[in-house]
Amino acid sequence: MTKPVIVVNFKVYREVEGAQALSIAKMCQEVAESSGITIIACPPVTELGYVARNVNIPVYSQNADPHAPGSSTGWMTPSMIKASGAAGTLINHTEHKQPMDMISITAELCRGCGISTIVCADTVELAAKIACFAPDMIAVEPPELIGGDVSVTDANPAVVENTVVSVKNVNKKISVLCGAGVKTGKDVKKALELGADGVLLASGVVKAKDPKAALADLVKYL
Ligand code: G3P
Repeated sequence: MTKPVIVVNFKVYREVEGAQALSIAKMCQEVAESSGITIIACPPVTELGYVARNVNIPVYSQNADPHAPGSSTGWMTPSMIKASGAAGTLINHTEHKQPMDMISITAELCRGCGISTIVCADTVELAAKIACFAPDMIAVEPPELIGGDVSVTDANPAVVENTVVSVKNVNKKISVLCGAGVKTGKDVKKALELGADGVLLASGVVKAKDPKAALADLVKYL
C-alpha cells in the first residue's frame, strides 16, 4: 500500500445508510484513481461486503471482534471480514473500544486470516503499548476533538509528533495515522509534516455538503 493513506470512516451516520454507502465509496474510488493517493473506505457493517465487492479501492470494516468462527452470535469475526471481500479492519476505535488483551487477540486473528489492521489509540502512551501487537497501522485520535471543526494537527500537534516517535521506536514498520477534526487538504499536509503516514477522518467527508469536493480537497497538496 502506497503512502500517504487517507482512511474514510463512514461511521453509522444516516448519510451512509443503504445505497448511500456505495455511493460515497465510489467517490473515494474516483478521487483515488484521479489522484493516485491510497484511499481506504470503511462502510457500515451492513454494507461491508456489498461495498467491498463493488469498488476497487481497499475497503475496511469499522470493527473486528476477538472471535474465531464458531458458535457465537452477532460478532464481527476477522474471518468473516476477509470472506466479505474487505481487506482490513479498524480495531478499538474510541467509539467501539476493546480491552488491551482483546485488541491483541483480534490483531492476531486478523493477521492469521490475512487482513490488515488499523488499531486506534486515544493517547501516545496507549499507541506505544499497542505497537507491541504489531498492527499494520496505528491511528491516534484525541476523543475530545472527534467530530469537531478544529483538526488535531492544529489543536494538538504534539500528540501526532509524539505518537509517531513512540510507535516507530517500538516498530518502524507500523504506519501512523492521526485523526479527529481533519477536514481539509491543509490538515492532511500538516499531518504529514508532523511525521504521520496519513489520516483517519469521518465527518469531513460524510457530513460535507459535497463529499466528492471534500475528498478532492484532501488530496490537493499530495
Ligand atoms: O474515525 C474517524 C474519527 O473518529 C474522526 O472523526 O469526524 O473528527 O473526522 P471526525
